[in-house]
Amino acid sequence: MKVAVVTGASKGIGRAIAKALAKEGYKLALGARSVEMLEELSREIGGAFYSYLDVSKPESVAEFAEKVLKEFGGVDLLVANAGIPMGGRLDEVSEEDMKRVFDVNTFGVWRTIKAFLPSLKERKGTVVVVTSYISTMILPNAGPYVASKWAARAITKTFQLENPEVKFIELRPGKVDTYFYGKPGRKIEEGFMKPEDVAELLISLLKLPEHVLVEDVLFRSIY
Ligand SMILES: NC(=O)c1ccc[n+]([C@@H]2O[C@H](COP(=O)([O-])OP(=O)(O)OC[C@H]3O[C@@H](n4cnc5c(N)ncnc54)[C@H](OP(=O)(O)O)[C@@H]3O)[C@@H](O)[C@H]2O)c1
Repeated sequence: MKVAVVTGASKGIGRAIAKALAKEGYKLALGARSVEMLEELSREIGGAFYSYLDVSKPESVAEFAEKVLKEFGGVDLLVANAGIPMGGRLDEVSEEDMKRVFDVNTFGVWRTIKAFLPSLKERKGTVVVVTSYISTMILPNAGPYVASKWAARAITKTFQLENPEVKFIELRPGKVDTYFYGKPGRKIEEGFMKPEDVAELLISLLKLPEHVLVEDVLFRSIY
């Protein structure tokens, strides 16, 4: 049975991905800061390993990885999904906010992959990084978030070139109805996909033949 780690599993896309992977028979290690929500999810999917994880803190990532590797002995799939929004003009955003968004969306991805890489290499595993459709686009008033996702894309692609024995997939969703935009509950016609749509796509990618590498996928609502 394959072992999958999902960061940011407490809500939104990560939660939907965790549920879909559980259905596919993966053994799961769930990480996020909201441990009560992880506990509830674990119960919902019939029992999964979960632990506090703050990807913006090097010591938290190290501790999480140590616990997961001790529990399972290795991992086959890492879904680096944890992320936060950060809008604002670049000439107005504070030093603190700029650092915060990079610490989660960029360094968080880098340090999580780094922590699990030896095991992923050993098992010829797969890393899925949830960036965004904006990882190659420019939007005004969203520079801090956009820049953090361009950098996460660069990190993903560099890891791939340096570690050909591991598959790196960059998932680039358009707008998804999660807590990212406040409380979820929006209609599909408003241009939002459901978190389950992202999970369904990921499962279909994981079922492709072994010799196929999907480098990135840009997908969005038709509206
Ligand atoms: N929603 C969209 O339209 C959209 C579009 C493209 C890409 N994305 C990306 O998709 C990913 C998931 O976002 P979402 O839409 O599912 O938003 P969400 O509903 O707000 O979920 C975000 C998840 O990330 C976790 N998280 C945030 N900061 C964290 C930290 N420091 N350490 C560990 N976990 C952390 C949250 O858990 P805790 O708060 O419990 O820590 C939560 O589980 C993000 O990377 C986001 O940039 C979203």
